[in-house]
Amino acid sequence: MTPQDALKQQVARAAIKYIKGESIIGVGTGSTVNFFIDMLAEHKHEIDGAISSSIVSTERLQKIGIPVLELSEVSSIGVYVDGADEVTPHKKMLKGGGGALTREKIVAAVSKKFVCIVDDSKCVDVMGKFPLPVEVIPMARSYVARELVKLGGQPEWRENFVTDNSGEILDVHNLDISNPVALERTINQIAGVITVGLFAERDADVVLIGKGTEVITL
Ligand code: A5P
Repeated sequence: MTPQDALKQQVARAAIKYIKGESIIGVGTGSTVNFFIDMLAEHKHEIDGAISSSIVSTERLQKIGIPVLELSEVSSIGVYVDGADEVTPHKKMLKGGGGALTREKIVAAVSKKFVCIVDDSKCVDVMGKFPLPVEVIPMARSYVARELVKLGGQPEWRENFVTDNSGEILDVHNLDISNPVALERTINQIAGVITVGLFAERDADVVLIGKGTEVITL
């Protein structure tokens, strides 16, 4: 296991305590969350089921015998555990490197508590070094790209990638994300945008950071 994977496993383990007393949990997507799902195997009798943010996480959950429920079957989710590509000290996140941003944003919206799990390489003061994923309706791709250029970004089409919602992704380089809440709102207003990977308006409630041998809690 690489040192970075060891940190991911460490934060995933630390997130387990947040599922205590919860019947339905939300589960994100990505390599950090995969460690969390693997650890859930030992705790599956403590929960009734999970709401998953992607087909890939659904398959991993079902493989270890955790029932995956439809979001429409539940009125709220106690806790949602997910990773991030970047996270600030204010708990704002940039997500979507794995392309699951839309379902992640929906699950986050329904969840009472968002627990973000990252290794310390994801911690930044200002987001934007990691290109910002924007999921679009395919016919709007070029239009949205031109609008993103007007905002100062350099969009790059994620070729040969189709999301779980049949959308496409533009990865936007060099954006100024000094005001993530405002930028999230602005990009959301562009016709044809399904979701922008800024999780600023609904940010994390808890951030667990794996650093060295410790887990730091924000
Ligand atoms: C998935 O679309 C993303 O939002 C992930 O949460 C993010 O990319 C973190 O993934 P890793 O844990 O693999 O870095």
